[in-house]
Amino acid sequence: MNVGRRNVVQWLAGTVAAAAGSRALAAFDGQEAFGGTAATSRPATERYKDEEFWSRVRSAYSMHPQIANLNNAGVSPQPNVVQEAVIANNRFANLLPAVNMWDRLDAGRPAIKAALAVLADCDADEIALNRNSTEGLCTIIFGMPLRRGDEIVLSDWDYDSLRHAWEQRARRDGIELRIARFDPMASAQTIVRAYAEAIGPRTRAVYATHMLHYTGRVLPIPEIVAIAKRRGAITVVDAAQSFAQMPVSFRKFGCDFMAVSLHKWLCAPFGTGMLVVSRARIPDIWPLTAPYEDAPVGIEKFDWSSLGTYSSASEQGISQAITFHRTFGADLLHARLRYLTGYWASRAADIPGFRLHTPIDADTQGALALFSIEGLDPPAIEKRLMDDWQVHVVTRKRKELYGLRVSPHAYTSLAELDRFVAGLRSIVNEQRG
Ligand SMILES: Cc1ncc(COP(=O)(O)O)c(C=O)c1O
Repeated sequence: MNVGRRNVVQWLAGTVAAAAGSRALAAFDGQEAFGGTAATSRPATERYKDEEFWSRVRSAYSMHPQIANLNNAGVSPQPNVVQEAVIANNRFANLLPAVNMWDRLDAGRPAIKAALAVLADCDADEIALNRNSTEGLCTIIFGMPLRRGDEIVLSDWDYDSLRHAWEQRARRDGIELRIARFDPMASAQTIVRAYAEAIGPRTRAVYATHMLHYTGRVLPIPEIVAIAKRRGAITVVDAAQSFAQMPVSFRKFGCDFMAVSLHKWLCAPFGTGMLVVSRARIPDIWPLTAPYEDAPVGIEKFDWSSLGTYSSASEQGISQAITFHRTFGADLLHARLRYLTGYWASRAADIPGFRLHTPIDADTQGALALFSIEGLDPPAIEKRLMDDWQVHVVTRKRKELYGLRVSPHAYTSLAELDRFVAGLRSIVNEQRG
């Protein structure tokens, strides 16, 4: 039985609208909720600093009444409309789980893939829906046929669990890991050169992270991919931190594989992700978990047919997140997040000992930045900011980097950033006596 997406949406809209006091799903469609994009008086080029527009975005979220959340790079909150869709989907699923999840809710998968394909600049039949970037990247790391002695190039700055996945693969199968060594503050050319120097005749794959989670540094992926391809290597890109935060194009990257977490910058339900596999590479990779039916030949081998039971209620909430994200879109969100980073960093710059570890002036940079205060312990500052100023930032430590990562999102207000900077200044002044 497959009643189709339209009926499900009608049913869900009715259910949610009927729930007393809830914001009705039926009443939300990005433009409508914000009074239409024409409602703002600023020209589009200046909308990134139109506080009236962004305060309307903020009002679409339910947030902690006291704590300013400046750790959206960890995981982002969902706007109310997404939370409510997931609750409604879940209620619907529970009426008759096997039918309502697998026949009805899952009927919305093609539409979600089509919308994601536009955002990611790929084809819908290159997209597998899954739970997160870790799952998508481990599918590639463990599913790529490799022989003893083959080499993989990665960097010191890739996400921890994925570096560990490669180390596990290396120990199991006798492959070698070669590190592209660079300072995350280095120029784009230096970084590209580091990858080029690490690639050798036995390199089978180059693995690179678009935006480093330690500092928010954006790497020149198209250039790294181009060099890797010229040298005959397969290319894998971790776009967990950049996707939806800024325009990300699978085609412009030119890579073979890309994985993202939709619960980060897209603000989709927790536990939703996407793996993009270029069509030509689909046959080469083993799925991480085996399919229920005969092995499918298409992209399905990496998603529903191989995942066992997953949360259809959460997965279907992706569509509301995409609609919400369209209210501003990746270009405007990127401009806003760069503006917010510049806003707090310029106000913190004269705090004694303040040092940034992110080249925030580069036009590729976005919401993430890492800073340190000379002579002060980052976890101690983190704790004081939370306890005394109700500001949540996180310590990040790797090799010589040791600092606090700040990552605002679309709903962050300038007042919250002012509080963060005032708190930091006060803590530092107090410590310096
Ligand atoms: C660069 C990067 N890759 C991968 C991940 C893993 O994401 P997830 O936990 O959603 O799988 C993260 C999480 O912060 C990340 O920053």
